[in-house]
Amino acid sequence: MAKLTIRDLPADKLRGQRALVRVDFNVPLDEHGAVSDDTRIRAAIPTIEYLLNRGARVVLLSHLGRPKAKAEPKYSLEPVSRRLAELLPGRSVTFVESTDSDEAQKATHELKDGEVVLLENTRFLPGEETNDVGLSRTLAELGDLYVNDAFGTAHRAHASTEGVARLLKPAVAGLLMQKELDYLQGALDEPKKPFVAILGGSKISGKIDVIEALLPKVDALLVGGAMACTFYKAMGLETGTSLVEPDRVAMAKELIEKAGSILILPHDAMVAPSREDGGKARAVSRENIPADMAMLDIGPRSAESYSRAILSAQTVLWNGPMGVFESPPFDKGTRAIADAMAQATGKGATTIVGGGDSAAAVEQAGLASKMSHVSTGGGASLEFLEGKTLPGVDILDER
Ligand code: 3PG
Repeated sequence: MAKLTIRDLPADKLRGQRALVRVDFNVPLDEHGAVSDDTRIRAAIPTIEYLLNRGARVVLLSHLGRPKAKAEPKYSLEPVSRRLAELLPGRSVTFVESTDSDEAQKATHELKDGEVVLLENTRFLPGEETNDVGLSRTLAELGDLYVNDAFGTAHRAHASTEGVARLLKPAVAGLLMQKELDYLQGALDEPKKPFVAILGGSKISGKIDVIEALLPKVDALLVGGAMACTFYKAMGLETGTSLVEPDRVAMAKELIEKAGSILILPHDAMVAPSREDGGKARAVSRENIPADMAMLDIGPRSAESYSRAILSAQTVLWNGPMGVFESPPFDKGTRAIADAMAQATGKGATTIVGGGDSAAAVEQAGLASKMSHVSTGGGASLEFLEGKTLPGVDILDER
């Protein structure tokens, strides 16, 4: 069922109203405490601008990091408010060092039309992660309507993502949330064919559900990353010192049998004694992984055949790197996928990058703008693709 969005609200529901907007400003900070990647902040700007341009007063809630239900200065959103102010030139953006206080309440009531206030990290509050009703009630008093634009946190049933949306109505989706759902749902429900998925990352354990969910929908599922080694093990191949999950080998075997020709494993691998030994890296076929070496990337033959498969597809979905892309030369496989997807977009395919590491790799390669959609949600996009209900979405008002 489709969710109501801010676009569905009439003008009088916005003008002069306090829009309580849950965003996902969980962004990395550098050693000086400044925002080092503002992708998630930029992604929320269309929703904030939409509301401000219609005379709403915007009250922003977010978490940052994983503080343990108490204030920890290193997780303060204050640096985020500075970056936000830069991204909203000419707008009044203030920061309040608390969230469930009289001060926060007062700040929301003193806001004028077209102004923004960002409140402190919701995870400083004991009731946030336990989805406490009392805290949800307090949060609900901070706004006249609720907007959830935090797709990246929609898989968490917390007070600021779920509890508050039960109490403060209307409770609608923001523009980023809508875009994320449209792309991901579109790929699952009505993919243009051929539909190719690429799954990587180190562990098969976190990907089993998504593999199971995608197998009936895709024309090819290409596997990369260390998780390929658990499949190799299941095929009886030598995996050297590669990361293998012994307790998942039986499961990998079952998947290979069930998937038939749809599941494609890399034919070759880049191996080295360790990720620090990039100078000793070499390509071997998957039957020849040396006993004292680890697979740290897919090999060049696989990178080429995966690229060909991507270029012949109309819908491409990617989640998880092909190797340890943070340590060159083991970034080549991941880079090849990003390049092929960028080219496929140019040829008219719909290309979707799941959040987390693959999104970071695409950003690093400077190719984010060449994808149809780069998700801002790591865990959330994975859970969505697994077919799970996201509590932060489920609770929003229906059309
Ligand atoms: C993310 O970065 O995936 C989201 O912000 C959610 O963060 P969490 O995993 O700490 O809940």
